Amino acid sequence: MQTLIKNGTIVNPQGCSRLDILIEDDRIVALGPTLRAPGAQAVNAKDCYIFPGFIDTHTHFDLDTGSALTADNFITGTKAAALGGTTCVLDFATQERDGTLQQALAQWHEKAQGSSCNYGFHMAIARWDEGVRQEMAAMLEQGVSSYKMYMVYDALRVDDGQIFLALQEAARLGSLIGVHCENWDVLQQMIQQVKASGLTGPYGHPLSRPPAIEAEAVARFMRIAQLAHAPAYVVHLSTAQGLEEARRARARGQRVYLETCPQYLLLTDLCYQAEDGAKYVMSPPLRKSWDNEALWQALGSGEINTIGTDHCSFTMAQKAMGSEDFSKIPNGAPGVQHRAQLLYTYGVCKGRITLEQMAALLSSNAAALFGMPDRGILALGRAADLVVWDPSYTGCITDTNHAHNCDNSPYAGFAVQGRARDVFVNGQAVVRDGQIVAAGLGKYIHRSRCSLY
Ligand code: URP
Ligand code: ZN
Repeated sequence: MQTLIKNGTIVNPQGCSRLDILIEDDRIVALGPTLRAPGAQAVNAKDCYIFPGFIDTHTHFDLDTGSALTADNFITGTKAAALGGTTCVLDFATQERDGTLQQALAQWHEKAQGSSCNYGFHMAIARWDEGVRQEMAAMLEQGVSSYKMYMVYDALRVDDGQIFLALQEAARLGSLIGVHCENWDVLQQMIQQVKASGLTGPYGHPLSRPPAIEAEAVARFMRIAQLAHAPAYVVHLSTAQGLEEARRARARGQRVYLETCPQYLLLTDLCYQAEDGAKYVMSPPLRKSWDNEALWQALGSGEINTIGTDHCSFTMAQKAMGSEDFSKIPNGAPGVQHRAQLLYTYGVCKGRITLEQMAALLSSNAAALFGMPDRGILALGRAADLVVWDPSYTGCITDTNHAHNCDNSPYAGFAVQGRARDVFVNGQAVVRDGQIVAAGLGKYIHRSRCSLY
C-alpha cells in the first residue's frame, strides 16, 4: 500500500524543506519536490509541517506503585500518545524486588499488547546482584539497551555502589543508564520536619524536596559515572542547580545526557497552593520560574537532549489518599498527549527553540540515544513514523478534554497552538484529522546499542 503526503514542509534537525513523501508499507520510499504516485492514497499537507514521529522517552503505563495503580494502561495511554503525535513511547518495565529482569520484561510485553503506537522498554533495576548483572546482556539481545535506577522510593531505590556496578556493566554492553536523582536519606528527614511544622497539605511536597535534594544527587551521579567511565543520563531534570552540576561534569569531559519534562518548563510550585494542589504532586516537584527559565535556555543552547513526559496518571480520587498527609499522595501526573503541543506553543511560537530543535528534542535525539537508528529522521528508507502537524489549530487544555484515562491535567487552562492532524505509525494512518482511526497497530521496537558507544 502506498501513501503520498503532498505539499508539506519536512522538519528534520538539519533543516526544513518543502518535499513530498511517498510511503510504501512501513517505509519512506521517496522524497522529492513534486512526487507523483498514481494509485497511492493522497494526503494534502499544505500549510503543515511533517515531523519524524515523536518519541516519548519517559512513560509509566500500568504501573502499580504499591499504593496505587496508574489510571492509564497501554491501551488508553498509547491512544493519547498517538493523538499528540507520539509514535513511540519508551515505558519503564520495572523489576520487582524479588524478581528478575526477564520476568519484568515478559510482564511488560504482556501489558503492552494492543498498543496504538510503537513501544520499547527501559528496564528499571530495583535490585542489584550478580544475577542481574548477567541478565543485562540478555536484555540487550531482546532489544532493551537502556535502564533506570532510582535513588528514591522504598520499593525501587538502589545504593551508590549498585549504580556504580550497573554503570560499569552498561558501559561494557553499550547500554545507557538513567538515574532518578534525589537524596533519599535527607528527603526522609525533611518530610518529617515539614510535617512536624504542621504543613501536611500538598505545599509540603516541594518544601520537603528543595532543589538541592536533586542537585546533590545529580552531582553524586555524575561522579559515580566518572568513576565507572560510563555516560550518564539524568531523567526528568527539574532545577537550575541540577543543570549546573551536569554542566560541571561535562566541563571535565564526561558524557552527560539530560532529559526534562514539560511540567518543569511550564509549571511552578505556586500550583501546590491551589485547591487541587494534589494533582501536581510528582517527584521531583514543580520548581520556581527561574528554574523553568534555566531549563528553557538549556533547551535553546542544546544542553538538554530529550523531553519526556513522565506520564504517570492518577485520578483525583487516588490523589485524595494523601489528603491528610502529602507524603501519601500518589506521585505523578498525566501528559503524554500534550508534550508536542506544549513545546510548539511555548517553545517554537515564543522563539525559545526552532522547529528543527523541536524535531531533535521530541524525536531524533531519543532515537540516537536509545538505539533506534531507523527512526527520528525523515529520510529515504527510514521507518514511516511521522506526524502531519497543523500549526493553525488553536485550543485550550482542560481537566477533561483529553484522552488520558483520568479526570485531571496539570496543564488545564493552558492555551495551545498547533496539533498533530494526521499521525502515521509504521506507515499506517492511526490518527486522521485529530481522531484515532486505527487502534492497536503499535509494535515492539527492538532497540540496539546506544549510538554513543
Ligand atoms: O512522580 C513521578 N514522577 N512519578 C513517576 C515515577 C518517577 O519518579 O519517575
Ligand atoms: Zn518517571
